[in-house]
Amino acid sequence: MQFEMIKPDDWHLHVRSGEVLRSVVGMSAKQMGRAIIMPNIKPPVINATGVNAYREEILSALPRGSVFKPLMVLYLTDNTTSEMIIKAHNADVVAAKLYPAGATTNSDSGVTKIKNIYHTLETMQKLGMPLLVHGEVTRSEVDIFDREAVFIDEVLSQVMSDLPELKIVFEHITTKNAVDFVCNYDNIAATITPQHILVNRNDMLVGGIKPHNYCLPVVKRASHQSALIDAAISGNPKFFLGTDSAPHSKYDKESACGCAGVFSAPHAIELYAQAFDKVNAIDKLEGFAAKFGADFYGLPYNNEIITLKKQDWIVPKNYNFASNIVVPFMAGKTLSWKVC
Ligand code: DOR
Ligand code: ZN
Repeated sequence: MQFEMIKPDDWHLHVRSGEVLRSVVGMSAKQMGRAIIMPNIKPPVINATGVNAYREEILSALPRGSVFKPLMVLYLTDNTTSEMIIKAHNADVVAAKLYPAGATTNSDSGVTKIKNIYHTLETMQKLGMPLLVHGEVTRSEVDIFDREAVFIDEVLSQVMSDLPELKIVFEHITTKNAVDFVCNYDNIAATITPQHILVNRNDMLVGGIKPHNYCLPVVKRASHQSALIDAAISGNPKFFLGTDSAPHSKYDKESACGCAGVFSAPHAIELYAQAFDKVNAIDKLEGFAAKFGADFYGLPYNNEIITLKKQDWIVPKNYNFASNIVVPFMAGKTLSWKVC
C-alpha cells in the first residue's frame, strides 16, 4: 500500500551551525520543503545581521540542487528593540522566538521577564509577525512536569489578553492543558513533535533511563500523550508538524548530565506516519504535515509530491555528526512507513 501527499514542511527545526550543520541539514532538506529554523545557536541569532549570516551558512551547507527553504527566526532577549524587529522583518525573518532564560539549550540570553519585551511584542503584533513560544516557566520550585501548565496560567494567558491580535505558535506542546488552551483561544496555534505523540514518560524512565527520549519540554504521562495524538489527528488546522529535531552527539546525550533534544530529522515523516497509522488516521497526515502550518504562516503549499509506502524498515543505530555520531529517535526500532 502506498499514497501520495504534498511535500511537508517542518515548522520547528534545529540544524545547529558549523560542521554539524553540514551533517544534518541535508536530511531535513530531503524530507521537507521548508523549515522554521530555530535561532538558539552559539552565539544566538539576535539581530538582522546574525540572521543573514546564518541563512547564508545554511544555504551553503545544502546538498547541490536542493530547493529547501530555511525560514529564519529571531531570538528574543531582554534587549531586543522594536527597531531590531523591524530590521529583522525587512530581512525576511518570519517570526521571533521567546526562550524564557534558562528554559533549555542555549537559552541563557533569553528573556528574564515577559514585561521586558512588551514593546517588542507590540511591534510584532502591528507587523503581523508571529511569536514562537517555548512555553515553560523556569522557577526552580516548579516541578519540571508542571512547567508548561504553569506557563499557560502565569504567562501565556496574560500575554494573550494584553496583546489580543498577536499571532502565537505554542511550540512543541506536551500537555492536555496546552491542547485545550490552543483550542479555546484565537490567534494561537501549536506545533506537535513526533516524540510527544510516540512516547510518554514511562518510555523515558521505566527499565532504565533512555536519554534519547529526553527533550524539553519533557515528555509527560500517557493521558497527555493521548490528548496530543487526538489534537494531531483532529484535522483542526491549529495543530501542525514541528519536529523540534535537536541533534546532540551520542556522547553529549549518554552522559551524567545529558543534553535535551531528540534527533528525528532523517525519518521525521515516517515517525508521524507511524503515529497516525496506529490510530487509523493516516488520511489526516497531509493536512497536519503539509497544509496547516503553511496556512498559519500565509505561505503557499509546496509543489512537490512525496510518496509514502507501507514497508517495514529499521531505523539506523546512528548517523555521522561532524567528527562524532548522533543517535536518531527510535534507533534500532522497526517503522512501517517509508518515503520512496
Ligand atoms: O529538547 C530540546 N532541545 N528542547 C529545546 O527547547 C531545545 C533543543 C535544543 O536546542 O537542543
Ligand atoms: Zn526546539
